[in-house]
Amino acid sequence: MRNDNWTFFQAFLRSPQVVASVIPSSSFVERRVVRAADAMRASVVVELGGGTGGITRSLLKATGSHSRLLVIERTAKFIEHLQMIGDSRLDVVHGCASSIGAELQRRGYPAADSVISGIPFSTMPEALGVEIIAAVHDALAPGGRFVAYQFTDRVVDYARPVMGAPAVEYELCNVPPLRLFTWRKEGNPRGLNGA
Ligand SMILES: C[S@@+](CC[C@H](N)C(=O)[O-])C[C@H]1O[C@@H](n2cnc3c(N)ncnc32)[C@H](O)[C@@H]1O
Repeated sequence: MRNDNWTFFQAFLRSPQVVASVIPSSSFVERRVVRAADAMRASVVVELGGGTGGITRSLLKATGSHSRLLVIERTAKFIEHLQMIGDSRLDVVHGCASSIGAELQRRGYPAADSVISGIPFSTMPEALGVEIIAAVHDALAPGGRFVAYQFTDRVVDYARPVMGAPAVEYELCNVPPLRLFTWRKEGNPRGLNGA
């Protein structure tokens, strides 16, 4: 974990706008994200911005043996950390979150049941933020969840026109404290008739 913190800090110094935090999320955030995403019931989960993999590991612990976790990470330095997790359910892609649809399609997955995002919507160009939200919405299965843990509410400006108002939670046990925004895509989850 100390090694993760150092790697994270170095990546932040190199690219503060992209990494957006000086240390990885706390274990409190990890637990809250897993719960909000309903990861225990998901078959296909996508994580945008895996960093050094704390939330990735928590998601793998929570999900079933037949689930799939696709992580899309833009910072090259984090890729080997994520690959070192070494779980056959995990697939790590070096790229931008906007490619979520293409990456799911490439693997033959019809949609994602949960999308989790720590990417910093507040520091990216507006056009990219709008593009990523549209791509996430398209990629989600009916009834699927989108969870964004953020230091600002910029993501809500982009997502509200597409997905409506989110549920909001606060996590104070993190440096700095952050908010979780959760959206649920319209429609019934796969395999359920809504009864
Ligand atoms: C605040 S860090 C969160 C890292 C980790 N999930 C955690 O909670 O500790 C944001 C992460 O998003 C990644 N990132 C930023 N923009 C991205 C993009 N457009 N596509 C994919 N990853 C991105 C950064 O490289 C960084 O790993």
